[in-house]
Amino acid sequence: MKRYQICCIGAGYVGGPTMSMIAYQCPHIDVTVVDISQARIDSWNSPSGDLPIYEPGLRELVLSVRDRNLFFSMELDEAIENADMIFVAVNTPTKMSGLGAGRAADLTRWELSARRIAAVATTPKIVVEKSTVPIRTAEAIASVLTASGRTHFSILSNPEFLAEGLEQALKYLLCVHFCKGTAIQDLQNPDRVLIGTNTEDPCSVEAMNVLVDIYSHWVPRNRILTTNVWSSELSKLVANSCLAQRVSTINAVSEICEATGADIDEVANAVGLDKRIGVKFLKASIGFGGSCFQKDILSLVYLCESLGLDEVAEYFYWIVKLNDHQKERFVFRIIHGLFNTVTGKRITILGFAFKKDTGDTRESSAIEVCRRLLHENAILSIYDPKVQSSQILSDLGHCTRLDPLELNQHVSIYADPYEACNQSHALVVCTEWDLFKELDFERIYCQMEKPAFAFDGRNILPHERMKSLGFVVYGIGKPLDKRLNLV
Ligand code: NAD
Ligand code: UDX
Repeated sequence: MKRYQICCIGAGYVGGPTMSMIAYQCPHIDVTVVDISQARIDSWNSPSGDLPIYEPGLRELVLSVRDRNLFFSMELDEAIENADMIFVAVNTPTKMSGLGAGRAADLTRWELSARRIAAVATTPKIVVEKSTVPIRTAEAIASVLTASGRTHFSILSNPEFLAEGLEQALKYLLCVHFCKGTAIQDLQNPDRVLIGTNTEDPCSVEAMNVLVDIYSHWVPRNRILTTNVWSSELSKLVANSCLAQRVSTINAVSEICEATGADIDEVANAVGLDKRIGVKFLKASIGFGGSCFQKDILSLVYLCESLGLDEVAEYFYWIVKLNDHQKERFVFRIIHGLFNTVTGKRITILGFAFKKDTGDTRESSAIEVCRRLLHENAILSIYDPKVQSSQILSDLGHCTRLDPLELNQHVSIYADPYEACNQSHALVVCTEWDLFKELDFERIYCQMEKPAFAFDGRNILPHERMKSLGFVVYGIGKPLDKRLNLV
């Protein structure tokens, strides 16, 4: 009997991990992940398991199913034609030019994928919208797919809520090693799976049931929500906006703390212990990063503007504005703290990823901090345990428009945090990597120029101990160190 065939278009942060999970949990299904990038596919197929993305546990997961019932391939047409169900997990970044530039999601890759499916498919397909897309995209895609008239397509919306990095990734991915323990299994299950469909169309409802069955292999049925397709598309944008809003709220409060002497961690704890509010996502920082938050809020803003809901658009837009303000404010603290000039001063950047336990730098706040410091002619020494040097140089080259030669004169990247701190005027923590908490600060203090400054953009360093060693310390939303040249 023919095995059920799934194809996923897009072998990125979402396509690779989610399809690996389906292949692992459903050994009776063959899953083929395709992409237009030969480098990505080669990397997913790498014999040494040197995958294109770093996620704790992902390598083990992929290696346990790769070439069993999980395949990575460049053969798009073949995979589409063979598939019963096609996930589309291509990137949907913010549009950079044209109508809606800087706000709307760019759906070019989505539409290209849909046109490819329409051109190739000769048998009925279930097409699953996995990418984050604006509301009513499924409707537009249905028009593209059905225009060919060659076969029947059922369109489902199934937004992905996976977060990158250890804590959340473990929750979602690592049933692999621990699936027998009930407590751990609870921890590792996704909060919910959302499937949107056209509830008035019996074929779509049938397709939805097929997808529900697939997820039911490891997700409790009561956590699989089914809604109409527009609710599903909108929920994804709203979920990310709510999460980002909490971060912007606590970051706004961090500025009040610095102006009054209150302590942001104490305030966050006191507020978060109210069960209605909750403690998660109240960690003050240099601002949120990552490929999703800003893009999805802007997409929601654009939707509101298109609907003439100007006040609502403005409300959501302020989440992003506050985030920009937080990054700017942090850099001003560094410059003012260092006696109003950083020209020619060596500054150590600890962490470049947008959060810990990932090598992803998309929209990382570190990029904006570095850009501004380079604009002020600082000399940067950068250390991140997981981000490749080439990625850091590419990000900084892109945002500063400095050519590689100029960049090399201003930026050095180190594989060792102590070397990165040598002869530095200031440490600047941009990512909350755990290893930064354990550094030998006595050793670092001896290596640094004096006065030695530490600007902790994540409030993870041992501030009191560092102060006793002689460091002048700034923490986000912390009472200001009197030795810091700040007001
Ligand atoms: P990504 O850039 O890592 O991966 C997208 C992949 O699609 C790339 O490898 C690209 O080469 C491929 N691609 C683009 N056009 C293609 C085409 N026409 N045919 C075949 N392959 C094509 O992006 P991602 O982070 O995986 O995000 C994918 C979608 O999922 C986005 O809409 C994003 O908003 C959403 N999302 C991402 C996350 C996350 O944590 N990264 C979480 C939830 C949702
Ligand atoms: C996010 C959503 O959490 C996830 O559900 C969605 O599918 C994709 O977008 P991700 O971007 O991987 O996931 O990371 P997340 O943990 O949400 O953090 C986003 C940014 O906010 C990071 O830069 C993080 O450092 C920052 N953040 C998060 C804070 O500054 N403070 C917090 O309290 C929480």
